[in-house]
Amino acid sequence: MADLARRPLGRTGLSVTPLCVGTSALGSMPHLYGYAVDTERASATLRATFAGPINFLDTSNDYAGGEAERRIGAVLAEIGGLPDGYVVATKIDPSRDGGELDFTGERARRSVAESRSRLGLEALQLVYLHDPERISFEEAMAPDGPVAAMRRLHDDGVIAHLGVAGGPIDLLSQFVATGLFEVLISHNRYTLLDRSALALFEQCAVAGVAVVNGAPFGGGMLAKGPDTQPRYGYRETAEEIRERARAMQRACERRDVPLAAAALQFSLRQPLITSTIVGVTRPERIAETLDHAALPIPEELWEELDALAAPEALWLR
Ligand SMILES: NC(=O)c1ccc[n+]([C@@H]2O[C@H](COP(=O)([O-])OP(=O)(O)OC[C@H]3O[C@@H](n4cnc5c(N)ncnc54)[C@H](OP(=O)(O)O)[C@@H]3O)[C@@H](O)[C@H]2O)c1
Repeated sequence: MADLARRPLGRTGLSVTPLCVGTSALGSMPHLYGYAVDTERASATLRATFAGPINFLDTSNDYAGGEAERRIGAVLAEIGGLPDGYVVATKIDPSRDGGELDFTGERARRSVAESRSRLGLEALQLVYLHDPERISFEEAMAPDGPVAAMRRLHDDGVIAHLGVAGGPIDLLSQFVATGLFEVLISHNRYTLLDRSALALFEQCAVAGVAVVNGAPFGGGMLAKGPDTQPRYGYRETAEEIRERARAMQRACERRDVPLAAAALQFSLRQPLITSTIVGVTRPERIAETLDHAALPIPEELWEELDALAAPEALWLR
């Protein structure tokens, strides 16, 4: 049985399991994941999630144009609201009305209003600024920008806790240094293949910011294998990355360990990480994930996998 004891999410006062369920593929985004997910399959996955021992769900305003939040809201309505002690986190996204990106403070307020309505939640426990790499740091921090709007929504009691979620390490480091965020999501940058987020996690530990690590499978490659999911981090990648993933798969097979179990535990065993977000779109994945988290993995396999990690030149950063 995996150790799912809840732990403090930094200084938020929230308690979360070391596993969090992610919902980007569950909204249905075939252009990113290579397959569509219908409502029935997504709802069955969400029912299994809310009935299970994991108490942490991650979504965003813009996963599949809001479809992930709508699907979550529908299942929450069906089961009579959020189960006791459950934490649902969402994110603020820009709009693209008429093709023009709008990531202003005004848009941030609309994003939060949309999320509350779709999820059926009066107040939101944790809201992240999502992928701020879409604008400059200065635009994000401007008086009429999204961060100022988030702070006001926090002061008004609409959002209990603020986080920042995104890709580029140096930019996220700037946001952490503002002292305005209690939780960080990094994705695809602390995996068996790519370790570029480690220094950022160390910065968070010093600053008292909780770290949530998303995409431990690199978006699927390290669960399904590189021949089924040839992309890493939702984009084309070097053949060397796939070769290394294949070698990892073979090393795991020799020890009777599914690659997905090793990829998941690589994140779970990192003490700087409070919770790991796993993207799943099938109800049976919840039990599989718990089994993978509990599987004993010999020390020698970790050594072999470490030796197969990608060189820094191939990390996303
Ligand atoms: N900027 C951000 O804030 C950001 C960015 C990235 C991710 N995230 C969050 O982190 C979550 C996780 O990232 P992700 O979903 O992109 O990538 P991921 O967790 O690395 O991989 C998800 C993929 O792994 C597959 N998978 C999971 N368990 C499996 C198993 N036991 N066997 C075979 N395949 C398995 C899923 O397949 P099935 O569909 O078949 O289950 C899906 O294709 C997201 O859903 C999102 O909530 C946030």
